[in-house]
Amino acid sequence: MQPPSDIVLAFTGASGALYGVRLLEVLLATGRRVHVTLSHAAARVFEAELGLSPDPERCTIEQIIAQRSPAADRLNALRPVDRPGAQGKPFAGAERGECVFHRLNDFSAGIASGSFRTAGMVVCPCSMGTLAAIAQGLSTNLIQRAADVHLKERRKLIVVPRETPLGLIQLDNMRKIVEAGGVVLPAMPGMYHQPQAIIDLVDFVVARICDHLGVEVDLAPRWGETRSAT
Ligand SMILES: Cc1cc2nc3c(=O)[nH]c(=O)nc-3n(C[C@H](O)[C@H](O)[C@H](O)COP(=O)(O)O)c2cc1C
Repeated sequence: MQPPSDIVLAFTGASGALYGVRLLEVLLATGRRVHVTLSHAAARVFEAELGLSPDPERCTIEQIIAQRSPAADRLNALRPVDRPGAQGKPFAGAERGECVFHRLNDFSAGIASGSFRTAGMVVCPCSMGTLAAIAQGLSTNLIQRAADVHLKERRKLIVVPRETPLGLIQLDNMRKIVEAGGVVLPAMPGMYHQPQAIIDLVDFVVARICDHLGVEVDLAPRWGETRSAT
């Protein structure tokens, strides 16, 4: 039996929608089938940060990464033109993968069940609200339920929180998720790769997420590797 290659990607209402959009682009370009769901607060953040209005009940890929969407323009603007790969259009290769949208309250979706096989789930960005719900196992929407399923099935669950400073309750929720087997991977880009543009910071975080998912990508130079491009 082939190992599953489907990945669940949930967007929630923390700042940093671009991290999730870039992750979706990269996963699709590697030929993955990505199950996407987003919260109502995530839609509000998409609007504030990317000028997009995805509908959590009827979302389509065009609402997130259409070739001519503001997100595409924004990613393009963030890509330094003198970088290898920069000549490629934004979302180049995204057609290699498949995007399946699930309504936030569709508990009959495959990803709500442990019998549906996946290679892992990422909540990116992850709000403190969803973080708390996952830590408590609330399962009041599809994002929380799918996260709960990933933990109980001992599959990869990666949450990408964005908040600062952090309080005791938030830190305690992160501890609970780690103890339950999840990975807490904050949107905290390093700077040792000498970022030249915002996309370099975004890619730093996306590359770390892909490392934990076991998805091979070459997005950011690793410490100890010589920089091939400036
Ligand atoms: C523009 C905007 C930015 C926000 N940024 C954050 C953030 O960085 N971190 C966070 O935890 N919540 C943030 N929030 C608040 C969450 O969206 C809010 O707590 C919401 O209830 C989370 O719901 P969800 O977990 O269902 O997405 C932000 C809200 C808005 C409108």
